[in-house]
Amino acid sequence: MMTSCQDYHRHTSYDRCRMEGHFLDWSNRPRVYKEYYALKVVPLPVAAPIPETSLSELVLGDTPEQLPGSFSLEQLSQVFSLAYSLTAKSVHSNGEFFYRSVPSAGALYPCELYVATRSILDLPDGLYHYAIGRRGLVQVRPGNYFEVLCYPSPPDRSEEAPLLMFFVTAIFFRSAWKYRARSYRYHLMDSGHLLESLTLALKMLSLPYEVTLDFEDQGINSFLGCDAEREVCLGVVSVGCRGDSAGLLTNVPAELPESAPAASRVARKEIAYPALQQFHLASTGLIAPTGAIPALIREVGEFPTSWKTIPKCKVWPEQMHYGEVVRQRRSHRNFIEAGISESVFQAFVTLLCGGNEAPGGWSQRQRQTIVSGFLAGNVEGLDPGCYWLDHSQHRVGMTRSGALLERMSHICLDQEWLKQAGLHFFFATNLELLDKVWGPRGYRYAMMTAGRLGQMIYLAATSFALGCCGIGAFYDGEAAALLGLNETSVMLYLLAVGPVRRVGRRG
Ligand SMILES: Cc1cc2nc3c(=O)[nH]c(=O)nc-3n(C[C@H](O)[C@H](O)[C@H](O)COP(=O)(O)O)c2cc1C
Repeated sequence: MMTSCQDYHRHTSYDRCRMEGHFLDWSNRPRVYKEYYALKVVPLPVAAPIPETSLSELVLGDTPEQLPGSFSLEQLSQVFSLAYSLTAKSVHSNGEFFYRSVPSAGALYPCELYVATRSILDLPDGLYHYAIGRRGLVQVRPGNYFEVLCYPSPPDRSEEAPLLMFFVTAIFFRSAWKYRARSYRYHLMDSGHLLESLTLALKMLSLPYEVTLDFEDQGINSFLGCDAEREVCLGVVSVGCRGDSAGLLTNVPAELPESAPAASRVARKEIAYPALQQFHLASTGLIAPTGAIPALIREVGEFPTSWKTIPKCKVWPEQMHYGEVVRQRRSHRNFIEAGISESVFQAFVTLLCGGNEAPGGWSQRQRQTIVSGFLAGNVEGLDPGCYWLDHSQHRVGMTRSGALLERMSHICLDQEWLKQAGLHFFFATNLELLDKVWGPRGYRYAMMTAGRLGQMIYLAATSFALGCCGIGAFYDGEAAALLGLNETSVMLYLLAVGPVRRVGRRG
């Protein structure tokens, strides 16, 4: 049974000497758009133009505290456009394929987005599925559900209830079709990317929000009408709520169209991967940590002997505003041998350390489940080597010197182009500590936080006219060895960043 972070991660690790071939059954390829055949899609209105705010203003600006007096369907449409939309197209012999504003391992797009609403002008209260391919909403349930959705108890007055509640789910088979049991890693990281994208969109519209990865899984999955063997909720974002939403719901109301759970099926012949299912089930328990949580940076392996403070960025090297960054973000692999300037590096560090949420919030605490580091290749002012990034102190400390990018590119399943990048950011964790402090759910926190910070790196790179590509495929043991991690610690995710031959749109 997969009951711990260590079990699942080890079970799904890649080893150069033990890689099994996997045949991709193209005739059984999962559909990338969720369809409710019996329900109607209501088109979203054209989104209002997006203000010309920069990414840095958005990320480092204060998180709004007040709900606006009223909220319209046009504004909701704007949230969806910024958070999750189709932004590029490629044309193949068998048709068109659309890429999205958030990246996804293998472009398999396991994530779906739902919203529960109340009091939105021109939209009846209800639970809606966002039909990204048709830019519309499907009403899954009519009515106002905030009384039952609220945490830890329903608000006394309706104006204290959230205005909106977003739910990010993942459909297992979409990514499992290609990545089998390892795909749970990608469900979590892809969801983290989407969560970060959503919170930035909410911030752009000056909406106060709160992210929670803790909720009552079974209740929320049935509220959403998901077939929980196939599709599960991984994150919730409440808009306009108060306090710490530690637990969500349970009396799920009944009015769900009978056909809804069937919509979680995305292929004719779906294969279930027991390791994935078992581990997800194990992670449905919630554990409140007791006692002080050790600083992870001291628990993952080699510790720097000296640190270098990185000054906060004052003159931003941004080349476009946030709305354009969202439209232009793509994965780029055509790195060229050119360096990253000191000021651009400082800008990355400022954004990563600044975070997108009020200090002290729950998601800030979840940052304790991972540590960030990077391999410097060609970065002005930094010797090549492996470094930890200490978010709280705005400083970096080297653990190993030397040109390590080429070795990392071999470790990443011989994706040779990676060695040309200026730097590789990475996220790591100590699985034993996760198990001890948070239980199996700690894996969700760590992977989704890595995805959230990964989204920030993609957006920052785009904004600075650099290329970026997330990497989830690597020989796990070799990566840990190169980074000097101890035997219970692992690398979770890597993002290559650097100048590329041409940054432009696909399609
Ligand atoms: C979690 C994650 C892992 C990824 N792993 C790889 C990888 O190992 N190699 C690669 O070339 N691209 C990887 N990608 C990039 C995806 O292939 C890319 O996001 C997808 O093709 C969609 O293209 P776009 O990012 O340009 O929209 C990864 C992306 C994510 C989010």
